[in-house]
Amino acid sequence: MVMILLVASFVGVCVAVVPPTCDVTVSSFHPDPTNCNQYYSCFQGVATLQTCPDGKYYDSTRTLCDIPANVPCTVGPCSGNTGVAAKAISNICTSYTLCLDENPFNLTCADGTLFDATYGDCVLARDSKCVENPCLAVDPATASPATFYPVLNSCKKYIICDKLNPVERTCVGTTVFSRTVSKCVASTDYVCPPGTV
Ligand SMILES: *[C@@H]1O[C@H](CO)[C@@H](O)[C@H](O)[C@H]1NC(C)=O
Repeated sequence: MVMILLVASFVGVCVAVVPPTCDVTVSSFHPDPTNCNQYYSCFQGVATLQTCPDGKYYDSTRTLCDIPANVPCTVGPCSGNTGVAAKAISNICTSYTLCLDENPFNLTCADGTLFDATYGDCVLARDSKCVENPCLAVDPATASPATFYPVLNSCKKYIICDKLNPVERTCVGTTVFSRTVSKCVASTDYVCPPGTV
């Protein structure tokens, strides 16, 4: 854990998915460790990223593109990573994945902070551009437009769902959005979460 914390301070310095080094004298093919749909071809020492047609996956054992059902695909959040990198977790702002080479570790942001992909670190909630779309977790068939969801970096804004799309609203006047009762309340009746405005 100490090691993770130490290297975490260097996050953002090096994020690298590098194409393979090609032998000048031999043509060859290499899987893209970050994407099963792609591979690199090496020709005269130059690596070119290629995409399998029709959503097929590249199979490095057979050196061909085939339908996904026939190709083992194990791409994780840290696949192809060298060194230290912080990666956002899809639709989650309160934690992130720290990659040490290809090994993932999920870390939780401290209270009042949210992950921000540009910084590659947890920042004060109000400074984070990370947005969680609560509507993706709601069944559109049963979703009620009358349900209000918090905007994680804000104490004034909230979200209503138009099917899967989040629509942002702002509490009027001096009212604030209470995550306790999921509606706008007088600012004297609710203590805003740390880091929000
Ligand atoms: C990290 O969190 C994501 C999303 O919750 C999960 O899918 C993944 O398995 C977790 N990875 C680790 C290494 O715990």
